[in-house]
Amino acid sequence: MTTRAAVLTSGGDSPGMNAAIRSVVRCGSELGLTMFGVRRGYAGLIEGDMIPLDDRSVGGIIERGGTMLRSARSPEFLTSDGQHRALETLEENALDGLVVIGGNGTLSGARWLSEQGVSVVGIPASIDNDIPGTDMAIGVDTALNTVVEGLNRIRDTAVAHERAFVIEVMGRSSGYIALMAGLAGGAEIVLLPEFPRSLEDIANEVVGGVRKGKRHSIIVVAEGFRPTDTELNGRSPGRAIVEHLQKAGTLETRLTIFGHVQRGGSPTAFDRILASRFGQAAATWLAEGRVGVTAGLCNGAIAPVPLKALSSSCENVERALYQLVQIVAH
Ligand code: F6P
Repeated sequence: MTTRAAVLTSGGDSPGMNAAIRSVVRCGSELGLTMFGVRRGYAGLIEGDMIPLDDRSVGGIIERGGTMLRSARSPEFLTSDGQHRALETLEENALDGLVVIGGNGTLSGARWLSEQGVSVVGIPASIDNDIPGTDMAIGVDTALNTVVEGLNRIRDTAVAHERAFVIEVMGRSSGYIALMAGLAGGAEIVLLPEFPRSLEDIANEVVGGVRKGKRHSIIVVAEGFRPTDTELNGRSPGRAIVEHLQKAGTLETRLTIFGHVQRGGSPTAFDRILASRFGQAAATWLAEGRVGVTAGLCNGAIAPVPLKALSSSCENVERALYQLVQIVAH
């Protein structure tokens, strides 16, 4: 049974992490747990960088992006020395429970800790939505809304100048953000790592659109997309597409790379609610000793997913939705 528990956020931050911290701490306190926060993810766990957390210390954060505990990518936690120093921190501080909030790398770390006997519960948070076992991770909805708002703005200028715009979005090797943002933002073409195409084919589609009377084009490309007929040679996929379209002599083309804009901002209501529900589940499972799991959203319900069942990849891009984007782009 857990009595003293810590919470940390690790890896790429995502909007809603603060709402999850708030919920873990307040639900944990309600269940009688003494709560702590580890700063800067696994890096802070290795260094013993911890603060006590109570109900008041997590006030005024539900609406804030980023994470009050800060985050880090910790190469040291991948070493045996780093891992064992992290275990020592838990022991020295008499921590008998840990909630980790983050993406696939973070949850792999949680799985390792669990295998060492640590009572750990994970909460999926990543704008990429590439975490197996959950329909949605914290931050995805906010990032999507940010991208769609950006697409709306770009469409204004694309229409005004009769241009093509290539918009590159994040997602690592997942096309989820690109697919959903393309669908919601009315993109003409969506390019995903899951469905590779040639640059020639893409240029032909833009030319075909012009023939049909389309005087502008919005092309959303996931950062993980790789064309089948061209090496990127250090270019981003968006840059490679723009260069090809310019050579093909079709619409005048511009590139926008959204970048880290997608990771910031006040979380949407959906993300705040999901984070609060995940936080409650994590605190409850810790208190009950149902550990070695991560929270998942499955058909609307929160369910525990064994950490050891997480594989490194997941199918989160549906072919049917990809086809729908193409049909509604006519
Ligand atoms: O995993 C979240 C993510 O934002 C990816 O979409 C992106 O490829 C990566 O992190 C960027 O990482 P960093 O912030 O370390 O540059």
